[in-house]
Amino acid sequence: MKEKLEKIKKDFINGLSDVKNSLQLQELEQTFFSRRSGEMTQIMKNLKDLSGEAKKEVGKLANEVKKELQELYTEKKQALENKQSDGFFDTDAIDVTAPKLPKIDCGYLHPETLVQRELEELFISMGFKVLDGPELESDYYNFEALNIPETHPARDAQDTFYIKDNKDWVMRTHTSPMQVRALQKYGAPLRVVVPGRCFRNEATDGSHDHTFHQLEGLVVDRDISIANLIAVMKELLQGVLKREVEVRLRPGYFPFVEPGFELDMKCLVCEGQGCGACKHSGWVETLPCGLIHPRVLEYGGLDPKEYSGFAFGLGMTRLVMQKYKIEDIRHLMSGDLKFLKQF
Ligand code: PHE
Repeated sequence: MKEKLEKIKKDFINGLSDVKNSLQLQELEQTFFSRRSGEMTQIMKNLKDLSGEAKKEVGKLANEVKKELQELYTEKKQALENKQSDGFFDTDAIDVTAPKLPKIDCGYLHPETLVQRELEELFISMGFKVLDGPELESDYYNFEALNIPETHPARDAQDTFYIKDNKDWVMRTHTSPMQVRALQKYGAPLRVVVPGRCFRNEATDGSHDHTFHQLEGLVVDRDISIANLIAVMKELLQGVLKREVEVRLRPGYFPFVEPGFELDMKCLVCEGQGCGACKHSGWVETLPCGLIHPRVLEYGGLDPKEYSGFAFGLGMTRLVMQKYKIEDIRHLMSGDLKFLKQF
């Protein structure tokens, strides 16, 4: 046993001289002193099997060795801690002479994307499906199936981008074409929202751009009424703006809803004083909506006597401007990083 103790001492001291960091020190400590299988621990346990003089003699020696090793351990631990705090000579130290790594600039989410994601989450929580639709749309879905007559000004080339030499295709002027597409594909009952880009042949100014985002909403079931429409619109605005907003409802005409409404909210950029974002009226047209016109339900393959529904076309770009107090719509499509980095 005496030889064993000598060997342990030698091994420990050798091991200690190889230790370069606190992890290695911990491992060494475990090898010798772990409560279950440490080499030194074993010796101490075996002492009880010895008898008389031998027990006294070896016990004394064992205690001395143990004490000595523990002192060496503490010393080493202290040394490692000191080394860490002054940083030099540590093999893991940072090489301050190394060339600087280039700073990596990460991307930014466009404010339009931020608001879209928030809206999607909100509608998913209310049991809606999120759909995507084509930006190049047929005249049929963009106008005809929505009960928009040939003579409606929206069909004018002044307002709509047509495809050269082909009047059957347009850059969709709104997300509403997805109303009939969704009904044809999924039938009723149905709860969907469709966020997406829309295009209009506009003379641009502070509140109009040729490209902007809408979010269409559609709910179809038996016995859907204006009460359902109002409840969802309130939930929507509170959820996105996270504050009280003043709203007003006006009758509004859209050929694909009956009755139709314009829901306006008091301009958050100027608090109703009048500014570029609200065309100096203090109010922003935010949510055109209404009960789905029976003819549109028919185009969607449903019997309007059995089903009813409501639809809304949230001006997502307008909402973005309100939320972030952006006074000119043209910033959004400008691609200006100085603008985008703010969000
Ligand atoms: N699509 C209409 C527009 O762009 C908005 C709208 C959608 C109105 C749904 C009523 C219902 O102006």
